[in-house]
Amino acid sequence: MIKLPFNYQKKLADIKHSANHLTYQAKINSGSFYTPSQLVNYVWEFITPFLTKNTTVLDTSAGKGSFFINRKNRDLSLIAVDDDQWAVNYLKENFSFLQIIQKNALINIKRVNYGIQNKQKLIIIGNPPYNDITSLKARKIKENSPNNLVIDPQIKSRDLGISFLRSYYQLKADYVCVLHPLSYLIKETNFNSLKEFKDNYRLLKSLVVDSKKFSDAKGASFPIAISLYQLDKKGMNYEYIKNFSFQLENGKQFSLSSFQFLTDLVSKYPKKTFSDEYLNNLFFFTFRDINSIMRNRTFIQEFNNYSVPIHKDKLKYYAYIDYFKEEFRDIPFYLRNFDVFYNPDFTEKDWNYFTQRISSKLENKEAKKFPKTSKIKAFEAWVANL
Ligand SMILES: C[S@@+](CC[C@H](N)C(=O)[O-])C[C@H]1O[C@@H](n2cnc3c(N)ncnc32)[C@H](O)[C@@H]1O
Repeated sequence: MIKLPFNYQKKLADIKHSANHLTYQAKINSGSFYTPSQLVNYVWEFITPFLTKNTTVLDTSAGKGSFFINRKNRDLSLIAVDDDQWAVNYLKENFSFLQIIQKNALINIKRVNYGIQNKQKLIIIGNPPYNDITSLKARKIKENSPNNLVIDPQIKSRDLGISFLRSYYQLKADYVCVLHPLSYLIKETNFNSLKEFKDNYRLLKSLVVDSKKFSDAKGASFPIAISLYQLDKKGMNYEYIKNFSFQLENGKQFSLSSFQFLTDLVSKYPKKTFSDEYLNNLFFFTFRDINSIMRNRTFIQEFNNYSVPIHKDKLKYYAYIDYFKEEFRDIPFYLRNFDVFYNPDFTEKDWNYFTQRISSKLENKEAKKFPKTSKIKAFEAWVANL
């Protein structure tokens, strides 16, 4: 075992529990953002009702062991796994009460590899890495260290975190309580890529917190869910998620079903060819969710790889998105991975407001003030209360 010099150890024990040995870029690539104790406490609070004598609590992406700090407990079997040699050395130096295993948690996924018997109650906790492994930066790291991203084909997904969730079903964990982007549940394509995980687990509880709570996270905030799942053959479908009541730390709750999304009314993705039912000199910059709208341009005049053609009948919806961007710049973090939403009571009179607003803006006229309708005002008041 490598014995680290005292000063170095002290640095590692930094209260931020940050992955100090990694550059910011390397942290993004391996998803090594260490979890603040406040969030770790929520996880233990959620699993406590299910802990019985001899329960195994396993973290397969344990990093510096944030989830086990001050959690020594003779009645539990606590296992920390990480594939990073440095993290494993650190764990061995600092946690005498843990079983520590160095392993890529995404291959050969069997209980026996962690010394856990099939009949043993197993609870998986942690904060697995999440990032899109098809992204340029992840491809670069893969070229440099090809073993880093070896994933069992059974659980291979575009996003590392989704593969981690799917690995928990391979281990038939009785409960799973982990942090993951809220978008895994609320974006239907992500939700569907959870495959056997969503078919065999049911969400019991989910507390949504701001990614800004991670002291070393940069960039726009996005919602992270601390989610408790129970192994259950009923599984869950997207309707279940739509009606699920997510909690916030301030005691408020929200569910997708109380929002009317623009999703099916607009197209979000570029298209090379289009008919004369589309505008030929005005396009919309491709987008995914509220966060990407806030970050990017909206209307563009040039036709390029990012241009979404605008169907003439749908201009009002794109005009609405531009309004939404300007009006709700400070929208709370937990809504930032949502699609743009609107007031289902809007009538043509309301939609006209958005079209007139954008026409005047695009013609570079002195920003004409059009009076907002009462439904628009009511909607703004509703959003301000979210
Ligand atoms: C987001 S960090 C979480 C660390 C820890 N749970 C915490 O909150 O302090 C993710 C950890 O997963 C580890 N990791 C990434 N891919 C892995 C894999 N395939 N198998 C095991 N560990 C992995 C990284 O080395 C990193 O330490």
